[in-house]
Amino acid sequence: MLITTGSQQALDLIAKVLIDPGSKVLVETPSYLGALQAFSLFEPEFTSVPTDEKGLQPEALTSELTAGARFLYALPNFQNPTGRRLPLERREALVARAKEQGVLIVEDDPYGELSYTGDQLPTLLSMNPDGVIYMGSFSKILAPGLRLGFVIAPPELHFKLCQAKQRPTCIRRRSRSAWPTRPCATGCSSAISRPSANCTASSARPCSTHWRATCPRA
Ligand SMILES: Cc1ncc(COP(=O)(O)O)c(C=O)c1O
Repeated sequence: MLITTGSQQALDLIAKVLIDPGSKVLVETPSYLGALQAFSLFEPEFTSVPTDEKGLQPEALTSELTAGARFLYALPNFQNPTGRRLPLERREALVARAKEQGVLIVEDDPYGELSYTGDQLPTLLSMNPDGVIYMGSFSKILAPGLRLGFVIAPPELHFKLCQAKQRPTCIRRRSRSAWPTRPCATGCSSAISRPSANCTASSARPCSTHWRATCPRA
């Protein structure tokens, strides 16, 4: 188990490890916006998996749909935004189909323990630990400000996720090229701070004959 800064960080780490520009990522329709945004930074191609009032439709996972997919992002418990809970038989069918077609499932489960009726359904992880990355969070059961989440992954992916967590500045070059260039960023911030630096230096000057105020250059 890897501890994360909320499950939002887990989503980011998963994206870093598994998504390249153009990678196919399967998502429910609709799906959790925060995950789509975390994944989008790494420029995947999203493919929608059909859903109905019970949630994901396992039979929609045809070999054409799943071909080349990096993973399926699934929210079986009280899905955000629909609130749907995937019935047991669909969970079993989904895991079986994904296994058959070699599709990794990313199971996002921050709401699993919030059932009003107390009954809990088995996680997808429990049905196939080798084919599921599972994310949990204390945000909904304790306090969101704690930023405490966790991710459980098969060993080789766990290792990669740890590496990604240890290198938080690892951003893909293509995404980086969209950032402001250094001279612009420097120019902008120095344009704001330069007048106040000049002001501080000149107001300090008459105060003492024993020391000199030097206007900082940066
Ligand atoms: C489905 C889902 N996943 C992940 C998160 C992020 O939770 P955390 O506060 O643990 O980062 C949320 C938050 O609303 C969510 O609804």
